[in-house]
Amino acid sequence: MPEASGPVGQDQAPVFEPKIVAFFCNWCTYLAADLAGTSRLRYAPNIRVVRVMCSGRVDPQFVLEAFAQGADGVLIGGCHPNDCHYQEGNYKALRRYHLLRRMLEQMGVEPERFRLEWISASEGERLRHVVNEMVEQVRALGPFRKCEQTEPVEEAAVR
Ligand code: FES
Repeated sequence: MPEASGPVGQDQAPVFEPKIVAFFCNWCTYLAADLAGTSRLRYAPNIRVVRVMCSGRVDPQFVLEAFAQGADGVLIGGCHPNDCHYQEGNYKALRRYHLLRRMLEQMGVEPERFRLEWISASEGERLRHVVNEMVEQVRALGPFRKCEQTEPVEEAAVR
């Protein structure tokens, strides 16, 4: 049965509140989140931000681990192309993103659950839009269900 964690009305079903793990680059998207906060732009409180020094620092293992630990979606935010403080970290992130996204799709993970966005430090409004949009998309999908292996790999290979 899907886990519902939102408020419960008298005659209403509980609203599903997705958990989104957000890996934000220290130099841009993290500052955009800060700007959104100081500008009092309200965005969905469903994201849990992990600050990284560059989007290129996000190892694919981090994304898989986030899903394994119960995230319903993963968002990576980095500097715009040519603005990366480490020259090409965001290009590495982009290449990894496309590979990982394809792999996740083959594992049955809906593409809306994994997203990469370029958001600069001055784009607080854009950050709000991206976060709210992703939360709504993942909410519509429902809770993430891990791929369940029905039989050990060795047994399946013997047949
Ligand atoms: S420093 Fe921001 S993406 Fe590389």
